[in-house]
Amino acid sequence: MARIFSIMSGKGGVGKSTLSSSLAMYFAGQGMNTLLIDGDIGLRCADLMLNVQDRVVFDLGDVKERLCPANQALIHPTGIPHLSLLAAPQMMKPSDIKSKEINKLLEAMQEEQDIILLDAPAGIGRGLKNLLGAPAAPVIVATPDDVCLRDAEKMGMLLQEKGEMHPWLVLNRVNKKWIRKGEMPTPQAIAMNLDMPLAGVIPESDAIYRALLRHQTAYECDDVAVRQAIENTASRLLGADTPLPVYKTPRRLFGKGGVAF
Ligand SMILES: Nc1ncnc2c1ncn2[C@@H]1O[C@H](COP(=O)(O)OP(=O)(O)O)[C@@H](O)[C@H]1O
Ligand SMILES: [Mg+2]
Repeated sequence: MARIFSIMSGKGGVGKSTLSSSLAMYFAGQGMNTLLIDGDIGLRCADLMLNVQDRVVFDLGDVKERLCPANQALIHPTGIPHLSLLAAPQMMKPSDIKSKEINKLLEAMQEEQDIILLDAPAGIGRGLKNLLGAPAAPVIVATPDDVCLRDAEKMGMLLQEKGEMHPWLVLNRVNKKWIRKGEMPTPQAIAMNLDMPLAGVIPESDAIYRALLRHQTAYECDDVAVRQAIENTASRLLGADTPLPVYKTPRRLFGKGGVAF
């Protein structure tokens, strides 16, 4: 039975696809059968990150329309034996795929996979609605600024209202130099304010964008701190008690009174 995670965020561009493709690469490398579903309907990108963009024949939309069985739509990146991708449809809107259909797909895929990662569209609109009721552990990705954190908080509240599982938090683009200067709150303080368990802290790194330019995931980038952060995140999501990084902070509190979102 697969462990299923939906990678979501209130705000766009915070690193959901970066994280989900990297986790997929890591889990598959550990020999776990891993399926990455690109759920960003209309804005597919995981195929580019896994460098299989020329091999997309069928996608999630074709599975929904029953044009092919789900297994036939899976793309297996060369050289990574345990990894499969189900690409997002380009020509559909999020409202074209219903939560019932996503849940049916997850059920069908759950037997053969060890891990299923759903890369969700940003926001609290239709795309999120489609994921409600899915047997997936929500993982909220956020960057450590108040604009993004407010959206993460709102998303957490919405999940709670709908009776979903308590979400994990992954903080992306964390800069320890800025934390040391008191310009960025510590991940631990943010997680406490949001009342979400911290599954991971991914450092800000140019190497991630350079990897993207080469059609590689952040897990393949040449920054060892990023790769380690992804491994640690994956281990915590699976229940390991992996210690979080400890940050040096200035004596005074961040800003005038801590985190303010
Ligand atoms: N930790 C990071 N450091 C630097 N750049 C990052 C980091 N995480 C993501 N990015 C960059 O941010 C952009 C948006 O990331 P993406 O994963 O596509 O976001 P989302 O899926 O949430 O829209 C990409 O160009 C990616 O390379
Ligand atoms: Mg994305």
